[in-house]
Amino acid sequence: MCFKVYGIDKYRRVSVALMPLSAPASMEKEHQEIWQLLIRIQHLSGKTGSIAEKLAKDLKAHIEKEEELALPLLGILGDIANGKLKNGVAKKASLLGSKFEKEYPGMLHGHKELRKYLERLKKVGAEEGHLTAVRFTETVEKHSKEEEEVLYPAAILAGRMASKRTRSNG
Ligand SMILES: [Fe+2]
Ligand SMILES: [Fe+2]
Repeated sequence: MCFKVYGIDKYRRVSVALMPLSAPASMEKEHQEIWQLLIRIQHLSGKTGSIAEKLAKDLKAHIEKEEELALPLLGILGDIANGKLKNGVAKKASLLGSKFEKEYPGMLHGHKELRKYLERLKKVGAEEGHLTAVRFTETVEKHSKEEEEVLYPAAILAGRMASKRTRSNG
């Protein structure tokens, strides 16, 4: 009986350790909406569609990196604020935080590169009368600004808080 209880407890600890950190649902949804919109724009006529195709390649890689490194860190902010950050989660977030801090300048540079495509897409989209494309560029620009001003720094702070928590628990 004792063995059984120990076994379940051990299983629980292992499964928590293997569980990935999860991103805030609202942020995942925002990325999905951006992506769905871009798919539609790629099918628009003229140069608008072809610029959107080129943009899609870079944007996909960028979003994947954010979802791997930044979003999971944002997912622990609620637990940090509520004083409910678990040790196992803190360990994972601490490692992820260091990884994100290394990638941070590159992510900002990525936004700069994306902006070049977005500006071109906005100009050409307007010339060709594709207002969806123009609105799309404004949405992504706003999204990127929010990331630069709030979300990336918040992800870094989440990683540092997690690392502090790990150290204070030995
Ligand atoms: Fe993003
Ligand atoms: Fe971004």
